Amino acid sequence: MGRVHKVVSDTKNLLSNITYVFRHVAKGKVRVLLGILAIQAITAFVPFIGSFLQGEIINTLVKVVSGQGQINYLWTLVGANLIMDTVPQLIYTVSGFLTMDLRFHIERFVNIAIAQKRAALDVATIESPEGNDLMSKIDENGQWRLNSMVSTTVYFISSAITLITSSAILISHEWWLIIIILLGTIPEFVTDIRYDKHVWNIHDAKAQVRRRYYNIRQHFGWIPYLIELKLFGLAQSFIDRAMVLFTQFQRDELNNHKLRSFYRIITQAIAQITLGIASIVYIKSVLEGKIQIGTLTFLLSSLARFRGSFSSILSNISDMYDNHQYISDYVRFMELEPMIKNPQPGLKPVGEKSPKIEFDGVWFKYPGTKNYILKDINLTIEPGEMIALVGINGAGKSTLLKLLFRFYDPTKGTIRVNGVDMKEIEMTWWQSQLGVLLQDYANYRFLTKEVIHLGDTSKKLLMPEVEKAAKKGEAHGFIKKWEKGYDQMLGKEFTGGFEPSIGQWQKLALSRLFLS
Ligand SMILES: Nc1ncnc2c1ncn2[C@@H]1O[C@H](COP(=O)(O)OP(=O)(O)OP(=O)(O)O)[C@@H](O)[C@H]1O
Ligand SMILES: [Mg+2]
Repeated sequence: MGRVHKVVSDTKNLLSNITYVFRHVAKGKVRVLLGILAIQAITAFVPFIGSFLQGEIINTLVKVVSGQGQINYLWTLVGANLIMDTVPQLIYTVSGFLTMDLRFHIERFVNIAIAQKRAALDVATIESPEGNDLMSKIDENGQWRLNSMVSTTVYFISSAITLITSSAILISHEWWLIIIILLGTIPEFVTDIRYDKHVWNIHDAKAQVRRRYYNIRQHFGWIPYLIELKLFGLAQSFIDRAMVLFTQFQRDELNNHKLRSFYRIITQAIAQITLGIASIVYIKSVLEGKIQIGTLTFLLSSLARFRGSFSSILSNISDMYDNHQYISDYVRFMELEPMIKNPQPGLKPVGEKSPKIEFDGVWFKYPGTKNYILKDINLTIEPGEMIALVGINGAGKSTLLKLLFRFYDPTKGTIRVNGVDMKEIEMTWWQSQLGVLLQDYANYRFLTKEVIHLGDTSKKLLMPEVEKAAKKGEAHGFIKKWEKGYDQMLGKEFTGGFEPSIGQWQKLALSRLFLS
């Protein structure tokens, strides 16, 4: 009973994920989607007409040879068959274009949606283990899985049309045969679903191992890491580690696949036997004069289509199932709610002058951890006052700043800006008031003047302003010496790009601050 329940709930989730993809991701492309579906329906159906015509041609030919048939009817059939042959080729071209259009749309949509979601989420959620985990899973998989879900659903529908049509044709002659054929396919169906599920479980259980592998692989991608690998002579030992991890996550899957292949051979043989029985019954019907030879060829080709579409449906279902596990992550990510809530409407308690900032009995620990990083902090910073916060590594200096930016809320106590509780303040507005240069800051790969202008994009890019900021940030001197000066492209990974030194990057970041 529990198992049935599980299958039902799995199927429900699968269907809800498919609906999600079509509702959210493929929306705005309804016509393209309908076009693709129509084409799939035609391509699924046309072969039956083709093989029906071929059967008719043989039947008529037999009659004509024995002096009974009408030669004109025969030629009509041949013409119709020729036309039917060209139809798939014609629509295939159109279908290729439509599919590409849809694929591009989904790629664009998903990439932008993920970026927007990341930007909208708060730092607390992004830094949390759950948020982090979800993001790396999506980076590894999520995006192409959505595309794959759309195409497998379309293929599934097309295979289903073929399956239904061929079943209808087979039922019209010796209906009971279809029951035997279906019974013969059940073992294959069951083992396929079973082993697919297994693959997913293995995949899920090995997620950590895979993540560790990807982490090691990063050392071969990012240049500073790669340089360190070389200098410390670590490359070989890292390759060895990667090899161990790789084999670890592949081994179980490979074993699973071995078993599956073994069972597949057996279950396919069973299915094949039932098809053999059906062929014998049909041939006997011809011998007994119940059906004509042409009809036999039509039935046999329908039988082959039945079998083919059944196999495709199996692999479609297993692909869909696979995709759906990843899409669940995507949906979960898209539905993540920020941990830090922006007040509606928020206050803006700062005028021309810099504000008074108070930490009043502030305690803080990171969500999901035990130890308090900040314990009973009481600190008042008067307007215009300059202070330096000094402490050993890990003392909590950066953490205190994170509270000031409202990346996190205090676990206990209050932070006030001009007497207003930080939680009452309009968050994005507050963050735009701050000038910050963190330990880890961004090195933007744009033109030098643009990199500085990013400090305040609400103003127009004016060279005198940019140069003034660069002078304050002590960057003007070295920028002037660069061949293209403020028009120099930054980042050595781009053609014509120049790589500033680390100190120069820092001064560019500082100049950016002076612009804001
Ligand atoms: N996102 C996080 N989740 C959990 N713990 C964290 C997180 N970020 C920092 N910590 C922990 O909080 C403590 C304080 O870290 P913080 O970065 O505030 O120190 P710091 O004073 O800025 O140190 P440093 O001088 O090295 O920059 C450390 O023990 C650190 O391990
Ligand atoms: Mg720090």
